[in-house]
Amino acid sequence: MSKRVAASLVAGAMVTVLTACGSGGGGSADKGSGHKLVVGFSQVGAESGWRTANTKSIQESAKKAGVELKFSDAQQKQENQIKAIRSFIQQKVDVIAFSPVVESGWDTVLKEAKDAHIPVVLTDRAVDSKDESLYVSFLGSDFVEEGKKAGDWLVKEYANNSADVNIVQLEGTTGSAPANDRKSGFADATKGEPKFKVVASQTGDFTRAKGKEVMQAFLKSQPKIDVLYAHNDDMALGAIQAIEEAGKKPGTDIKIVSVDGVKDAFTAMSQGKINYDVECNPLLGDQLMDLVKKVKAGEQVPRRIKTEEGTFTPEQATAALPNRQY
Ligand code: AHR
Repeated sequence: MSKRVAASLVAGAMVTVLTACGSGGGGSADKGSGHKLVVGFSQVGAESGWRTANTKSIQESAKKAGVELKFSDAQQKQENQIKAIRSFIQQKVDVIAFSPVVESGWDTVLKEAKDAHIPVVLTDRAVDSKDESLYVSFLGSDFVEEGKKAGDWLVKEYANNSADVNIVQLEGTTGSAPANDRKSGFADATKGEPKFKVVASQTGDFTRAKGKEVMQAFLKSQPKIDVLYAHNDDMALGAIQAIEEAGKKPGTDIKIVSVDGVKDAFTAMSQGKINYDVECNPLLGDQLMDLVKKVKAGEQVPRRIKTEEGTFTPEQATAALPNRQY
């Protein structure tokens, strides 16, 4: 992961696609010869509201851009993504884009794409490969920063409180970039204050059902929970159900800080059930289509493209709710 963090330090550094993967040619989606730009896209799955919005954005943008999108849903399984990438290579797509379910274990299949001269673009999540020639660009959020924002909020919220603050953490999919980075960013922001104690931390796999199940277990095993830090909104929403079923008030008896900023979470915030939400933007479709066109044309593209994101208090979420797109 440190390699990836190091890679993000060169954000904005320009690489040429020709240098990176030895492929080029073509210019527009339609290449001027009736041949549409063909992109193979391997999506993580459909585990969350965020993911649904991300899929919709990519599919709609591809249509708008005249790009033929070969879409494959990996159902949160790395082996399915590897199979999809191999099938894209066999079909000789122009560009492969994918959102890796976990960070490690990609070198072999990415080398196969490189050998076939098919450029690879990472979107949403990164890989921790040491060989940076295996992909040309990474478009997505800064997950460490998101975790830090959640931790910074907690530090401010408890600034006048010296008693211990017992935190339970619902982690995302084990081994995924957002789970690793949101955990480390949060730990970093709170490490200076020993009163913050993570008393239990377990994966809820980014789903509502698992978030509820794990929160039920936390409520049984932990005599005192002050704060829930959820790595995404779906797990927070599942946990809210568990908290309410246990006869407690989410947002009051147990404060909740989460990540994503989906509509359902904003509704929960407007009801006082989530105290703070860190935004993670799923609407990456237009940027991704621009990027794949440039990559295929052999144009220079940034090695790292970070998405712009904010944070929301319950008041801000309530105000934003009527116009929230996802
Ligand atoms: O990779 C982005 C994360 O994946 C989102 O925060 C989460 O909701 C999704 O499942």
